[in-house]
Amino acid sequence: MENKVRVNGMTFVPYLTAEEIQRQVKRIADDLRRDLEGKDPIFLCVLNGAFIFAADLYREVNLPDSVITFMRYKSYEGTSTTGNVKQIVGLYEDIKGKDVVIIEDIVDTGLTAERMIADIKEREPASVRFVTLLHKPESSRNGFKPDYAAFEIPPKFIIGYGLDLDGKTRGLKDIYVLENED
Ligand code: IMP
Ligand code: MG
Repeated sequence: MENKVRVNGMTFVPYLTAEEIQRQVKRIADDLRRDLEGKDPIFLCVLNGAFIFAADLYREVNLPDSVITFMRYKSYEGTSTTGNVKQIVGLYEDIKGKDVVIIEDIVDTGLTAERMIADIKEREPASVRFVTLLHKPESSRNGFKPDYAAFEIPPKFIIGYGLDLDGKTRGLKDIYVLENED
């Protein structure tokens, strides 16, 4: 693990090690495997941030009849009075009647998660579970609670293990926090 990571003129310091992350990934995977036993779940990895977490989690869950697919969630500045329009991009699979497990990197305000679940439910799955690597409960604006969270963290800005700053730092194996933000 690096002592410091500098990106875009900002300094980040170590926060969660690769070992700690993998331990929590295993814990969540055990919970999911137990809760999904006897089902044929479809995992939905939310790109881009969750791709590394999803790869590790999916392999740990190791349910032979499960499938994984990927989608993006885009927000647009709306031109109408409705304001922000969020939209699922690239989910072509029929999820009707399926047990869906959404895999996200981080829940901050909870607004994206709430909207995403509402959109998914319109496609009439049998059930929807929401898994996140990181949850910032103090940032919540809607009381949304993920069904599974590997870590609950304070409202600090973090990078690494899929999480980015302007698209950078996703490849870091550990997670780092913005310096002097404790
Ligand atoms: P929210 O829960 O609707 O506020 O949106 C969460 C999204 O904000 C995540 O999917 C990330 O893209 C981004 N985000 C929130 N906190 C962080 C952070 O600490 N580092 C990197 N991205 C973050
Ligand atoms: Mg995200």
